[in-house]
Amino acid sequence: MKPFLLNFPQRGDERGWLVVAEGNKDVPFDIKRIFYIYGSEANVVRGQHANRKSEFVLVNIAGSCKVKTRNGMGDDRVFELNRPNMGLYIPRMVWKDMYDFSPDSILLCIASEPYDPNEYVRSYEAFAQEMNGT
Ligand code: TYD
Repeated sequence: MKPFLLNFPQRGDERGWLVVAEGNKDVPFDIKRIFYIYGSEANVVRGQHANRKSEFVLVNIAGSCKVKTRNGMGDDRVFELNRPNMGLYIPRMVWKDMYDFSPDSILLCIASEPYDPNEYVRSYEAFAQEMNGT
């Protein structure tokens, strides 16, 4: 499974816009947790891990940032998240780096699992070795 972009429908009228992210519908899993990241300087790199169990959808609901995904076998992709109705689906066991945060960036992270620090792989070398079967 590869990361892919989601385009949430924007429900709008004269009062403004509304975007819905419903589990197993707009987001391709049962939602167990949300968290959000803000106040990161432009030169900060966050993430820098892969998850054994969690799948994610990331949405920059304000501002922008970039997300680099890596499968450990040379398939590296960069996504710029800069619209509140654009989501990035990230499957299990994909390395992710979030960076180039705008000062107003709020990155909403929707996850398929509750927080469990033991499901994080925090060494890229170990991750790549595992993904390459070495
Ligand atoms: P961290 O995973 O380093 O953030 P990121 O990957 O987005 O750069 O998390 C920062 C801190 O917050 C760390 O002490 C763990 C804690 N944390 C939780 O307690 N629950 C959570 O769901 C998340 C994502 C982090």
